[in-house]
Amino acid sequence: MGLKEEILKELENSRGKSYSGAELARMYGVSRAAVWKAVKALQQAGFSISATTHRGYTFAAENDLLTEAGIKQYVAFPCRIRVEKTVASTNDEAKKSAESGAREWDCVIAEEQTSGRGRYERKFVSSEGVGIYISIVLRPKFTASETLFITTCAAVAVCEAIEKLAGKSAGIKWVNDILLNGKKVCGILTEASFDVESGGLRYAVVGIGVNVLPQVFSPELAKIAGTVFEEGEYPQEGRAKLVGAILERFRYYYERIPQRTFFAEYKKRSVVIGKRVKVYSGNVEGEAEVLDLDENCFLKVRFDDGTVKALSSGEVSIKI
Ligand code: BTN
Repeated sequence: MGLKEEILKELENSRGKSYSGAELARMYGVSRAAVWKAVKALQQAGFSISATTHRGYTFAAENDLLTEAGIKQYVAFPCRIRVEKTVASTNDEAKKSAESGAREWDCVIAEEQTSGRGRYERKFVSSEGVGIYISIVLRPKFTASETLFITTCAAVAVCEAIEKLAGKSAGIKWVNDILLNGKKVCGILTEASFDVESGGLRYAVVGIGVNVLPQVFSPELAKIAGTVFEEGEYPQEGRAKLVGAILERFRYYYERIPQRTFFAEYKKRSVVIGKRVKVYSGNVEGEAEVLDLDENCFLKVRFDDGTVKALSSGEVSIKI
C-alpha cells in the first residue's frame, strides 16, 4: 500500500477525528510535505478530507466513496479491487482484464455504469454512488455445466450479505434476481469464455449489481425495483461493508461448488416454488405452476395443459 492508501485507510477508520500533518508524517516515517501531497491527491480524487490550520486533516463522517482500502477492511482473503468512477459495464472491464491475464478474484467496481446490462441484454440502471456494481474474475476448474452454479452461489451470498448488514430477509427469484419485499434489489450476470479447441472454460466473470441506497427510479422501474436500505437506515461505510460481505460469502460457496453447499440455502430462499409464473422461451410464452427446484437448479414446472418440464435457466426466463 502506498502513502496515499495508508493515509486514506487511517482517516477512513477514524471518521470525524483530526490528525495533524506532523502526526501523520510521524506515523508513516515521511515528511509533512509528503503527507500534504498525498492528502491533496486524495482530495483531487474526490474524497472530502478537510484540512484546517488548527485541527489538521479530517475525513468527513458522511464520506461514502468506494475505495480499494475501504473495501479490503472487510475482506479477509487476498484479492485486487480496481475502483473506477464511471465505466460502461464492469463486466466488460473484467472480461478485458481476464483476457490480459487477470487473476482469480481480481475485481472491478464502479461508482456508476453507463451501459450496465443484465441477462438477455436488458439494461441494468446503475446510477452514481447509490449502488454496488462489481465484476469478479474467476478461473474455475470445474466443468462447463457447473458454471451455472456461479450465479446461484452469488445469489445466496448477496442474500446473506444483505441479511448481515440490513437485517432483512432476502429471497431469490430463479435464477438471478434478489428480492426484498417483492422488489428486485440485485441482479447477477455471469459470462464465461470457453476454449474453442478443448471446450474448456478459460475464465468466467460474475457481475453483481445491487441497488443499495434510496434513489429515484423511472415510474416503470419503480414498479419492480427496490433498494436494500430505506431513508435513514444506511450504516456508515454501508457499501464497502456490503461488498466485503458479498465477496466473503461468495468465496465460501464458490469453493464448495462440487459439494453443492449453496443448494439448500438457494432453495430455502426461492420465492417461486409453489407459485404461478409466466414462462418465456424466445417468443413463446406460457403459464405454469412451479413444482420444485432440482439439484441442477432446473425449475420443475407444470404447464396448464398438464405437461411437466424441467426448465434450464439458460433457455428460459420467468415472471411471477
Ligand atoms: C440482471 O438483472 O439480469 C443482471 C444484472 C447484472 C448487473 C451487474 S452490475 C455489474 C455487472 N456489470 C454489468 O454490466 N452487469 C453486471
